[in-house]
Amino acid sequence: MSYLGPKTIIEKKKQFLLPCSYHFYQDPPQLVRGSMQYLYDHTGKQYLDCFAGVSVMNCGHSNPEILQTTLKQMETLQHTTTIYLTEPIVALGERLAHYLPGNLTRSFFCMSGSEANEGALLLAKKATGRMGLIGLEGGLSGRTHLTMSLTGIPMWRTMDDPSPNTYLAKGYGKEPEETASAAMERSLASIRSILEAHPNGIAAVICEPIQGNGGIQVPHVRYFKRLKAMLQEFGALLIIDEVQTGYGRTGKNFAIEHFDVVPDILTSAKALGNGVPIAAFSTTDEIAAGFTSPSASTLGGNPVSAANSLAVLDYLESHQLKERASNLGNLLLEKLTQLQKKHSLISDVRGIGLMAGMEIRTPDGLPAPEAVDRILERMKDAGFLIGKNGIDRNVLAFQPPLVVTKINLLHMMESLETALQKEYASYSPCK
Ligand SMILES: Cc1ncc(COP(=O)(O)O)c(C=O)c1O
Repeated sequence: MSYLGPKTIIEKKKQFLLPCSYHFYQDPPQLVRGSMQYLYDHTGKQYLDCFAGVSVMNCGHSNPEILQTTLKQMETLQHTTTIYLTEPIVALGERLAHYLPGNLTRSFFCMSGSEANEGALLLAKKATGRMGLIGLEGGLSGRTHLTMSLTGIPMWRTMDDPSPNTYLAKGYGKEPEETASAAMERSLASIRSILEAHPNGIAAVICEPIQGNGGIQVPHVRYFKRLKAMLQEFGALLIIDEVQTGYGRTGKNFAIEHFDVVPDILTSAKALGNGVPIAAFSTTDEIAAGFTSPSASTLGGNPVSAANSLAVLDYLESHQLKERASNLGNLLLEKLTQLQKKHSLISDVRGIGLMAGMEIRTPDGLPAPEAVDRILERMKDAGFLIGKNGIDRNVLAFQPPLVVTKINLLHMMESLETALQKEYASYSPCK
């Protein structure tokens, strides 16, 4: 098999794609094959995937058990659109009604996380008759104009031209030295002040249960209970974006379950398809009831994506992947925390399940995005693909496929320690 190779791909990207499409690494590999938790480049080199295509490949790359169903559906009936009756879309709707928390029993299927959030925001406006929407600093809602307006990460807002009636409140992410409790109070007070400034005007708050792109920020355990109560007081809805956190990643079906709260609307995407595009926004009978005007997504929940998602849910359950994420996640966080005690460049370790972040700062306490890039490059050379995120791009993100093994993680930790030692030596040759 002959491959273009990284250099030619970069040249073609420059020539034929928009310049906004960027890539990780100074010396990036060309990835040509995936198998469960591993990826392979054009030279045959194996990498342990520790980012899962940003929390997508929870069941592993080219998972043969899932693909059996997907390919069979492709050969039988590929696409009709929702104006015709087909079985997989209703089977998936019914399955999700049991898989989702509480009384969220109705879903609308679409194609991407941005589209699911856009739909959820529209639903909230229709259900409340109000136009105001609140997002959080440090949150990411998507790439459409409205979802971008509710994204609180400057890098992902792209253009400073927010949609009308959109507001950003303080996020729940901790500042250095701040407690989770203080961050919670700051965020809740900020949301309250927007609600009070717009009596009967705010339809919903949209937020992630753990901010992924914001740097794996985990709120205080009481945050969502208090937020939901506050929103009820003002007649506004809570939209929880589980695009990155859903489908077993944090050790529960959805991360909001760690906070013992059922949102009014829940959005999901990424891991629902395990690499096949599908997304959904899901809600209660009561909230769904007002959405009677016609709406359709041409490819949303088509026979292939719906059958594939049913196989994904089967696989997650039959292989107990959420239990695995919980157990291995505890191990990962324990090992990362041990490393933090040894290396002062690590200013924080946080996360739940197999969604962990490690924040890197200079010895002077400043965000160190260049150090993160060097660590990522060393890890890639050692055969481990790690993610990065955070408002200052200084957080290493560990979100591997949930089929990863304990041995995989221990090997990754050894290489991470070496990569950190090299980085530390560049600041302080004596240590
Ligand atoms: C939390 C969250 N919401 C929404 C999105 C947007 O999803 P998509 O890229 O599928 O449109 C993302 C993408 O990374 C995300 O992480």
